[in-house]
Amino acid sequence: MKKAVNQGENNRFLFDDNSPSELTRDLLARDAAVFFHQTLSSPVFNAITKAEGAYIYDGSGKKFLDLHGNGVHTVGYNHPALTEAIQKQIEQALTFAPRRFTNQPTVELAEKLAALAPGDLNRVLFCPGGSEAIEMAVMLAKHYTGKWKTLSYYGTFHGAGFQAVSIGADPHFRDGLGPMMPGAIHLELPDYYRNPWGWTNQEQIDDEYLRQLKLQIEYNPEIAALVSEPIFYNSTVPTKYFWENVKALCAEHNIILIFDEIYTAFGRTGKMFAAEHFVTPDVIVIGKGFGGGILPYAGIIGSEKLNVIDHKSIGHYTHEKNPLCASVALAMIQVVERDKLAEHAATLGAYFREGLLDLQEQFPIIGNVSGMGLNLSADLVLDRYSKARAIDQAQNLMNFCMNRGVSFKLIQGNILNLKPALIVTKAEIDFVLETLKAGLNHLYFTPPDFVHNDLYKSF
Ligand SMILES: Cc1ncc(COP(=O)(O)O)c(C=O)c1O
Repeated sequence: MKKAVNQGENNRFLFDDNSPSELTRDLLARDAAVFFHQTLSSPVFNAITKAEGAYIYDGSGKKFLDLHGNGVHTVGYNHPALTEAIQKQIEQALTFAPRRFTNQPTVELAEKLAALAPGDLNRVLFCPGGSEAIEMAVMLAKHYTGKWKTLSYYGTFHGAGFQAVSIGADPHFRDGLGPMMPGAIHLELPDYYRNPWGWTNQEQIDDEYLRQLKLQIEYNPEIAALVSEPIFYNSTVPTKYFWENVKALCAEHNIILIFDEIYTAFGRTGKMFAAEHFVTPDVIVIGKGFGGGILPYAGIIGSEKLNVIDHKSIGHYTHEKNPLCASVALAMIQVVERDKLAEHAATLGAYFREGLLDLQEQFPIIGNVSGMGLNLSADLVLDRYSKARAIDQAQNLMNFCMNRGVSFKLIQGNILNLKPALIVTKAEIDFVLETLKAGLNHLYFTPPDFVHNDLYKSF
């Protein structure tokens, strides 16, 4: 039988069947001593020594199938086609482009994105990170419309910069900072499972959220942009009806619809862009996997009509046209296309979802399964009537899975968020489902105190 987890000072991340290596202990201690501490980033629980394919490895050589990856692992880690592209770029001695010099990889990348993006999204701008890309999109919308307010959803995250934090509404990032960006208005995030009215009819729920949106638009004629992920961070998939109506309202009131596809672009939801399931927005924001999980790179892809601000700047970033970043992004897109990873995500995602629904039938603790493609969530509840969040159970389950080599993150404490690299195989999904099933059985048959620990609470 496995031993209980030791939560002693030096063993904070201990797995039930393993102890951290010398290297890991050393790195954890040095990390805690030298980095500024901040919630969600510290303390760290483990040290990574290798990231390859769909897996990460820790200092004890333990291997984890990574269903989190901060969303950068679209084509898996350290993909050979990407490292080769980087090496070639270095050999050509073209690794940076000062402002006002263009270069082949960035132009090719821009053209590729314009060709791939839906509708008339033909103009791009690049920058180092997703937060900056969100800022560029919002500033573009403000310049284009001549208005200054924004609409976005409570509880969301669009980046750690000040404007992005203002648009997002996560208290971890806002509390204590005083006034946020003026005019940042928030709406309730549509929720079909836990909507406040207890309704189950999706169109009725949509109509209520649309009513709230209309009200804000009516009282705030200065709204320049509506910013949202097309599929929400908890894997809730809004209806096409919802997005069609949002788009129509935006068009009617000269509001720029911005889809944050920093997580969902490049195949994760079963299409190259998640927008393709719904409507074409005015701007798509990309990031994370765009840099192939190797380099930071992000950007916006916007409608031709928005190209009207010649005499102002919305994204004067040093690495705007970095050829090294562009070469890795191009290689990433080539891999997604060549290996048909969007189609793979659609097929394997449907299989994974079926497996989760099957577990839901066996285990009442799974109240809801949501998502599409390889972007899925399972919502753990204390009972299906109250839908109260099963926080301790979710943490125990996550810890159980971590111990058995499956890494994922929890959202809102109780939602298992399952996003593997798109190169994941059916056998690996079977392994995840078997591990979850073993963990769920373990929850059912083990007294809570025995398995409880909060090692991965903020993982
Ligand atoms: C949906 C979404 N938007 C924006 C961001 C910010 O991206 P970055 O961390 O590259 O600034 C994130 C990062 O987690 C995200 O998940």
